[in-house]
Order: sequence, then structure tokens, then C-alpha cells
Amino acid sequence: MGSSPAQAKHVAIIMDGNGRWAKRRALPRAMGHQRGVEAVRKLVRSVGSMGLDCLTLYAFSSENWKRPDEEVDDLMNLMRKFIKSDLPEFIANDVRLKIIGDWQGLAPDIVAMLEDALEQTSGGSRTLAVALNYGAQQEIARAAAKAAAIGEVTDKSIAAHLDTNDLPPLDLLIRTSGEVRLSNFLLWQAAYAEMLFVDTLWPDFTPEHLQTALDDFADRERRFGGR
Ligand code: IPE
Ligand code: IPE
Ligand code: MG
Repeated sequence: MGSSPAQAKHVAIIMDGNGRWAKRRALPRAMGHQRGVEAVRKLVRSVGSMGLDCLTLYAFSSENWKRPDEEVDDLMNLMRKFIKSDLPEFIANDVRLKIIGDWQGLAPDIVAMLEDALEQTSGGSRTLAVALNYGAQQEIARAAAKAAAIGEVTDKSIAAHLDTNDLPPLDLLIRTSGEVRLSNFLLWQAAYAEMLFVDTLWPDFTPEHLQTALDDFADRERRFGGR
């Protein structure tokens, strides 16, 4: 088509494959998660230069509680460390932190840290949305209940009550590690998003991989049901 290449404004990523990354190196799973955090850090540093308004990252699903306690503890401790170490950088780089999911259900100290981080970054112009204790079906059910409470159960009203109600429409959804499923992530928002499934394991995913994904997106023809 003759239209000019489209710039993605909102990209979401299912960051999968930390465990397999570690297994291939005969390292503990925790090491895979640690390297996964480093991949996040590098990516967040680069999004400003890629023209994105919003990057949404799936960090912990409502179903990830099923994992062994030790792994859940490792993930929560990495979360604590990440917020502490990277908050100053978010503030300095004009990044607004946003959390989606049932994050108030996390440990009280994490909730307090997140509340503080949200407040300190509220003036940022680009958004990093992190999905924590997130499940899309649960999010839709919460939004539908709120819509019902005001007697207006429509697609617009449900969308207005989703956790993502202040984010731009989702343009591109990426999943790493070769799995081709959504695992309860952004089911509503993905209605017309472009999808990209890549084999790269999350700790190996670099800003260059994201740039390649954005170039791929720019070549796609989106129709939204029209013609
Ligand atoms: C993604 O990596 C991180 C989280 C789900 C928190 P996994 O831990 O799912 O890694 P694999 O899928 O077992 O390789
Ligand atoms: C999805 O990955 C959740 C996150 C990346 C946080 P999972 O590894 O939990 O998904 P399944 O279990 O393979 O579907
Ligand atoms: Mg996985």
C-alpha cells in the first residue's frame, strides 16, 4: 500500500523464556530472572529514542503464583531491587511508571514502594506500564463490574474502566521465547493489535530486537475491519 510507514506508539511485551535461558546454561532459574531484569533496564533506557509513548511489560501474571514459593520469592525480591535501583533513572529520564493488574494484592512493602514510585514519576511524559499480579480476564471482570455499577455495560464503558484506560491504543504485542499464546495478557486491548512472536529468549532480547520489531510493524497494513 502507498501509505507511509506507521510508527508504533504503544508496544506491549510478554517477557518469556528466563527459565529456559538459565537451563541452557545450567544456571539456577533465579539467574535467568536476574538477567531478564537487565534486559528490561536496557530496553527502558532505549524507548525514548524509538518514538514510543508507552511500553507495557508483563512481569508477573495472576497465574504465576502457582510457581514454587522459592521462585515467587525470587521474583518479588527482584521487583523490590529493581524499583529501588531504577527509580532515580525513571525520574531523570521523564518516565512515568504505571502498574496494571491487582498490584494492591502484593506484599505491603512492595505496595508502599510502588505507591511512592508512582507518585514520584507522575509527571513523566513517556509511560512504562508494568503488569504485576495481572490477568486480563480478571481485569475485564473488574471493569465490567464497574460499568454495571453505573448501569452502562457497553464496550466503551468497559474500556473506560480497564486498568489501561489512560494508555494509548495497543499497536504491537510481542512475545519472546517461541511460545505462541497470550497467557491472559491484554486480551481486550489486543483486539486489533498487531502480534509478533519471536524465538529470542527474554534475557537475550535487546533494544536492537525491539527496533527490528518496530520496523516490521511499520510495514504492516492495518485495516480495523475496513477495506
Ligand atoms: C518469564 O520467564 C518470566 C516470568 C514468567 C515471571 P519464565 O520463567 O516463564 O521462563 P520459561 O518460560 O520457563 O523459560
Ligand atoms: C507469561 O509467561 C507471564 C509473564 C511473562 C509474566 P508464562 O511463562 O507464565 O506463561 P505460560 O505459563 O507459559 O503460558
Ligand atoms: Mg514462561
